[in-house]
Amino acid sequence: MADTTQQMAAAEEKKEDAVPQQAKAHRMLQVSILRYNPADPDSVPHLQTYSVSETDSMTLYILLNELRDTQDPSLQFDFVCRAGICGSCAMLVNGKPTLACRCLTRDLPDHFTLAPLPGFELIGDLSVNTGKWMRGMSERIQSWCHLNDDNVNLSKIETPMDPHLAEEIYLLDRCVECGCCVASCGNFRMRPDFVGAVAINKISRFRLDPRDHRNDADYYEILGTESGVFGCMSLLACHDFCPKDLPLKTQIAFMRRKMAEQGIMGKEEPSLKRVIPLRELKLD
Ligand code: SF4
Ligand code: SF4
Ligand code: FES
Repeated sequence: MADTTQQMAAAEEKKEDAVPQQAKAHRMLQVSILRYNPADPDSVPHLQTYSVSETDSMTLYILLNELRDTQDPSLQFDFVCRAGICGSCAMLVNGKPTLACRCLTRDLPDHFTLAPLPGFELIGDLSVNTGKWMRGMSERIQSWCHLNDDNVNLSKIETPMDPHLAEEIYLLDRCVECGCCVASCGNFRMRPDFVGAVAINKISRFRLDPRDHRNDADYYEILGTESGVFGCMSLLACHDFCPKDLPLKTQIAFMRRKMAEQGIMGKEEPSLKRVIPLRELKLD
């Protein structure tokens, strides 16, 4: 009996030893990166392949930093939060728009490619200027709360909001402006003035907000065109690739119905309230 117990304990120990051994068997990854620096006249777009040893729970954030630290300090890419919150690390991973900081290498094959998001100004290699595009979009659709009351009193306690409504608004407000929906949109690639799913979702969010005085006639001015919601071809790549799982297909369908109703029946008159004038952006 004692022998059997000892044998079992030894077998258990052996099993425990075997687990870390297995976990240590990491792959050697081949990573092909599209390199191009538009600021350098001698630079030509080309794929450069690097070998990197995979580690436990490795994300593309860890991989790219290791690459830059140990093999190629000239590699350009963006990261800020490393937690899927800032939206700055979106890139094409094997051709699919993805947040690199949330992408685990264990979900990728031994050899994969990284490329910058298409449709945005290229800064260099994997770094694109999504911020510039998002700012332009935001100004175009005026994605801020147009308050009912012009005299804002910041020391006054805010009017409470129904928690269910607050939750609905929060659901749409989780957009991190990563640009994955724009980069995956075939319509945007054909007509660069298309506002994109990100803008349609934002209008849907402000439409829910009782503090915003705008009505459907005002939103029709922004979205009721071919470069707005009527230009969308409903192929829904935006929905499939949104890393925050925003309900884009529902919002697009809803806003298209509301804009069609407004366009055909003219249910509402545009609000006469003035909009907040835009100030020129000064970056220095
Ligand atoms: S559904 Fe519309 S917004 Fe989304 S990817 Fe297709 S065309 Fe673009
Ligand atoms: S809607 Fe989704 S994919 Fe588009 S910018 Fe926002 S978070 Fe990114
Ligand atoms: S680094 Fe912020 S979302 Fe990836």
